[in-house]
Amino acid sequence: MLIISPSVLAADFSKLGEDVNKVHKAGAEYIHLDVMDGIFVPNISFGPPVISSLRKVTDIFFDVHLMITQPQRYIKDYVDAGADLITFHYESCFSPAEVIKQIKSYGVKAAVSIKPATSPEVLFPLLPELDMVLVMTVEPGFGGQKMIPETIEKVRVIREYANAHGIDIDIQVDGGITPDNLKYATAAGANVIVAGSAIFKAEDPEKVVNDMIKVGEDYPFGADVE
Ligand code: DX5
Ligand code: ZN
Repeated sequence: MLIISPSVLAADFSKLGEDVNKVHKAGAEYIHLDVMDGIFVPNISFGPPVISSLRKVTDIFFDVHLMITQPQRYIKDYVDAGADLITFHYESCFSPAEVIKQIKSYGVKAAVSIKPATSPEVLFPLLPELDMVLVMTVEPGFGGQKMIPETIEKVRVIREYANAHGIDIDIQVDGGITPDNLKYATAAGANVIVAGSAIFKAEDPEKVVNDMIKVGEDYPFGADVE
């Protein structure tokens, strides 16, 4: 079954705890926490204090997406803040393999993300060490953008490689995902779905979460979407 990970970037920050618990109750298993440093991406969001405050009011799985340069400097801070999974960008550091080791040394799940211009093949040597890969479907930095259709093919390339090599791995997509375009991602092999605007800006977030889970059932990996 699909794991839905609503991105808090589109939530109401004045009542973050409430918004997070609402989508958790609606069936979202993860909450996606976008950390931006104004250097790796041209935007600033929040850091460990917000995450640790949130940790006190919810037991939902914390899916932390670091869009920061040289993430190895801050891994421990995000572990201490309550991260269950830490994703960093392939493009943000000198040695992704070292950062993966560092994350896993704390008993936290590790994932690597690629921007739209980065080819999926760079991830192949890392896959056996990873719990998840994140294929960005927009340029990281801002919520509310349109999904870039060309990025979906990269999901398929990674899923086919993983299957051919007996690697069991989650593939996450993030950026501009809606109940309408989600089928392209699930049919290509994505199984962890980030959505910010589509969920938090909806009148009925619970319905959107459930509609998305249903898309995963209707369009599993390899399904015909044309
Ligand atoms: C973009 C972030 C995304 C974003 C998703 O840099 O990584 O998680 O908040 O929001 P939507 O679903 O609105 O594109
Ligand atoms: Zn994100």
